[in-house]
Order: sequence, then C-alpha cells, then structure tokens
Amino acid sequence: MEHRIINTVLKTMVFAGIVILMQSCYNDNVEDLYPQAPACDTNNVTYANTVWPIINTNCISCHGGQFPSGNISLSDYSAIAAAAKNGSLLSAIRHEDGWSPMPKGGGKLSDCDIQKIEIWVNAGSADN
Ligand code: HEC
Repeated sequence: MEHRIINTVLKTMVFAGIVILMQSCYNDNVEDLYPQAPACDTNNVTYANTVWPIINTNCISCHGGQFPSGNISLSDYSAIAAAAKNGSLLSAIRHEDGWSPMPKGGGKLSDCDIQKIEIWVNAGSADN
C-alpha cells in the first residue's frame, strides 16, 4: 500500500517537472531573450532620400536660415557637400576629439544615421 502511494507521488512529481520544463522552454523566444536593434538598412543611400532628411531633422534648426550657428550653413546640397569634403561633417557627428560634438546640446545621432552619412560621404557625397 505504502509503495503505491510513494509511486503515485513520484510519478506526479516527475510529470509536474516535465510540464514546468516544457513551459519554461515554450517561453524562450530568441527575440524576447535577446532584443536587438532593428537592422540598419544602408541600401540605396542618397543625398535626397537619406542625408537631407537626417540633416533637416537634426541640424537645420541651428544651421539653417540667414545666421546659421557657428556661421556654418547646412541648408542646401553644396553647403552640406562642402562640410562632407572638409571632414567636419563626419568628425562632428561622430563626436571626434577636437571637434564640437553635433547635434549641439542634443543626443548623438543614431548609429544607423551616422552609418548612412558615412556611406554617402565615402562614396563621394554625390548630389542624387
Ligand atoms: C542647437 C544648435 C545646433 C544643432 C542642432 C546643431 N549644431 Fe552644429 N554647431 C552649432 C554651433 C553653435 C556650432 C559652433 C561651434 C560650437 O559652438 O560648438 C556648430 C558647429 C558645427 C560644426 C563645426 C564643428 C567644428 O568643430 O568645427 C559642424 C560640422 C556642425 N555644427 C554640424 C552639425 C550637424 C551635422 C548637425 C546635425 C546633426 C548640427 N551641427 C546640429 C549648433 C548646432
């Protein structure tokens, strides 16, 4: 009699253990356990569709208009391309030593936005 009770208790415990194990595995979803930043899409980087929107959103408030901050205008292609060619654009947004970090007083641009601008500059900062 006692044997049977112990047997039943043991079986129940093993069964419960398996259920618990299965449930813990069920919830182990790679995306949930290791959340990743969405991939950065660096295909088809262009001035008009990629670079200008980033500058327009993050820089023009200071570097646009008649009296741009630091006397540096970034309000059109030729001005932005000039900053790209003299190295100041990338150095400032990468927060490199010796340069004033941009956007001034704001957070650094996202790694993805910086990467896109790097691609555009390194490809020759074309107007397309
Ligand atoms: C809140 C105003 C503000 C914003 C926004 C801003 N800047 Fe500036 N920027 C300045 C000022 C002011 C200077 C002059 C240097 C200084 O005072 O730090 C400057 C200087 C610069 C320089 C020259 C840096 C150097 O060390 O010679 C570059 C290049 C530049 N900005 C690019 C950008 C870019 C690109 C963005 C957007 C990603 C941006 N800035 C956003 C205010 C701003």
